[in-house]
Amino acid sequence: MSYHIRIHDRQNDKFYEADIEGDRYILESLESQGIELPFSCLNGACTACAMRVKSGKIDQHEVIGLSKTLQDEGYALICSGYAQSDLELETQDEDEVYRLQFGNFFAKRKRHWFQFGIPIDHD
Ligand code: FES
Repeated sequence: MSYHIRIHDRQNDKFYEADIEGDRYILESLESQGIELPFSCLNGACTACAMRVKSGKIDQHEVIGLSKTLQDEGYALICSGYAQSDLELETQDEDEVYRLQFGNFFAKRKRHWFQFGIPIDHD
């Protein structure tokens, strides 16, 4: 099924619109249409591709780097997410989602984070 997506790239003050397939990763679909957005790992882990979801629904069952709580609060990792409706997204502030997902955990650990693993919930 095909969905319409609108994205506001806030850092570059650009607006994009495209039609994407629901069985293909959102970022991959956009890239194939020449729309370039931030990314790094392409595995739903680093949060570089995180977007604020202004409207619409994204299937994020493959995402490992964003808690269910943050997903419910309106964030999505589009490298590993599938559109389930028409979407309106906007880019995050630099490191916004990384800080929300990992910041408090790292601040408590004082360089001993490697002993305790990464703070990802699996609900
Ligand atoms: S590019 Fe790393 S989570 Fe999407």
